[in-house]
Amino acid sequence: MTIAWRDGMDIGDPVIDADHHHLVEMINQFEAAIGGRIDHKAVARVLLGLVSYTGEHFQREEDLQLQVRYPYYDSHRRSHRDVLKHLNDLLARYVRLQGAERDAMIRDMAGFLREWLVDHIISSDLRMKPYVQQFLADQAEAARRQRAARALAASIAAGRPADDWPDPSRH
Ligand SMILES: [Fe+2]
Repeated sequence: MTIAWRDGMDIGDPVIDADHHHLVEMINQFEAAIGGRIDHKAVARVLLGLVSYTGEHFQREEDLQLQVRYPYYDSHRRSHRDVLKHLNDLLARYVRLQGAERDAMIRDMAGFLREWLVDHIISSDLRMKPYVQQFLADQAEAARRQRAARALAASIAAGRPADDWPDPSRH
């Protein structure tokens, strides 16, 4: 079953949202590779890609959490480690198994990947959204204050009378 992206799954950070889109695509590719006769070359390629991309994505996500002062950083980071370990274990087991056992395992894995991803994004990452939004709002406010201060400084430097100085709250 293909996962379709819904706007409600966006957390508001363009980099992390693009990562999640890409992860969804990879899992859809994985499902396509096992749809009929299992294409093991494609499966292995997608799995390897998924393991390394997930590691990079988690790092980016943890960096963002630090930046926005996400209060659940520690537990989120721990769950990232668990997922990465599990993905690596799955990959190792997949390589060791053969024939029908390997086919059965790979079909089980599809369910795990889908559930994990949807759970990761919907229940876990969406909790970051208000913190990301607050961070973006704070940044916009800081930029506005800077612009106002610059405009005021420019007016003073230009020798404009105090009555003509720009109102800093209206920049
Ligand atoms: Fe994520």
